Amino acid sequence: MSGMGRRDFLVRTGLTLSAALLAGTSPRVLAGQSSPQRAFTSWDSLRAQFPLSPRLIHLAAFFLASHPTPVREAIERHRDGLDADPIGYWFEHEEKQEATVLRAAADYLGANPMDIALTDSTTMGLGLLYGGLQLRSGQEILTTTHDHYSTETALRLRAERTGAMVQQIALYRALKTVSRDEIVESLRKGISPATRIVAVTWVHSSTGLKLPIHEMAMVIQGINRSRDEQDRIIFCVDGVHALGVEDFRMSELGCDFLVAGTHKWMFGPRGTGLVWGHPKTWPIAQPTIPTFSSQAYDLWMENKSSKDLPQSVHMTPGGFHSFEHRWALDEAFLFHQAIGKSKVTLRIYELNQQLKQGLVSMPHITLHTPMSQDLSAGIVCFDVAGMTPRAVVDKLRYRSIVGSVTPYATKYVRLAPSLINSSKEIETTLEEISKLRSS
Ligand SMILES: Cc1ncc(COP(=O)(O)O)c(C=O)c1O
Repeated sequence: MSGMGRRDFLVRTGLTLSAALLAGTSPRVLAGQSSPQRAFTSWDSLRAQFPLSPRLIHLAAFFLASHPTPVREAIERHRDGLDADPIGYWFEHEEKQEATVLRAAADYLGANPMDIALTDSTTMGLGLLYGGLQLRSGQEILTTTHDHYSTETALRLRAERTGAMVQQIALYRALKTVSRDEIVESLRKGISPATRIVAVTWVHSSTGLKLPIHEMAMVIQGINRSRDEQDRIIFCVDGVHALGVEDFRMSELGCDFLVAGTHKWMFGPRGTGLVWGHPKTWPIAQPTIPTFSSQAYDLWMENKSSKDLPQSVHMTPGGFHSFEHRWALDEAFLFHQAIGKSKVTLRIYELNQQLKQGLVSMPHITLHTPMSQDLSAGIVCFDVAGMTPRAVVDKLRYRSIVGSVTPYATKYVRLAPSLINSSKEIETTLEEISKLRSS
């Protein structure tokens, strides 16, 4: 990599990944030493940390994060350092900062940092995972008709490349009547002796429906009890619209892999994401892109095998990244931790309930997202009688309310109240929706 080897440089500067990771919970988290702007005081002051236009009511903020102050400042700090001395700053920060990010992600997720791979997006994680999970002859992938383009396409590409069989099932008949039991039973019926991988999406961006992931994991674990290790069902979840919304810990969720971008509800730097894998399951993931982990690279330079490194290290794709963004990701996790995970969930639920209750009371609205928070999270989908979803979103935008149209074959109006919104904004939005009429 340079005249001076990475290890030489790191030894001299006293930085090694394992030392940093073994140091445990980040000292700032332990001591509760939030910087003043990180400490949560009120929803108004939280909103003030986002440079989002104050003229607009942002109800599509999950689409791509706006960076809050601590994330923005960390990005600026790393960018300035890299611009001033790219190689020097990189050598000084790469291992230390990656370890800090992994530790912050692990603290937030209730996981071990060694079980997390860093990616640039949900899509990158899904592509690498579904492209690389090993299947033996006769083993199949089971997925659903409700998944996002990125899951469907990653599985299609895998099938085209390797001949892998992909079965697709619907988990429910109609949104009006969907229940947790129906979803869990549909999954149970869809699993065959050939099923090796189950690929689902926790919160559907097409409808706002939230799957009961823990119950589904329990069904799968029950079936696995009578299977050999090599036939065990591997449960994979696109969790991008749950991360930063739902209050969960990886140690309790029950899936094998969770894939998510951290640049949506988490407010992490744009172009960041992660894959968490259960330590028992990681070994069946085969990497595609060479990792640039210092450990792997150093072993390569010494003509030694790196196969004993954790699979999460191999599954963190290498090549250089936009490091100013990647190294600022810890700030997003700390930002959420300062609010508190349960408070985050409660706030998002409250605003979503307010919106849904207002919508169901309007005769010209058809609400598609279930009312129950058991079956929904932060996304609300609906139709306005006589108007296309595009026309509704355009009219709302004209009234300074930012929504989106679901990017699927079936299109709905989609609004997503989040931490940056207020109850007053939801009221204003409902007032504007009540006035919408086809012209
Ligand atoms: C359910 C779901 N999965 C994956 C993605 C893609 O996420 P990313 O932009 O992080 O790749 C999206 C939306 O963009 C989504 O709604």
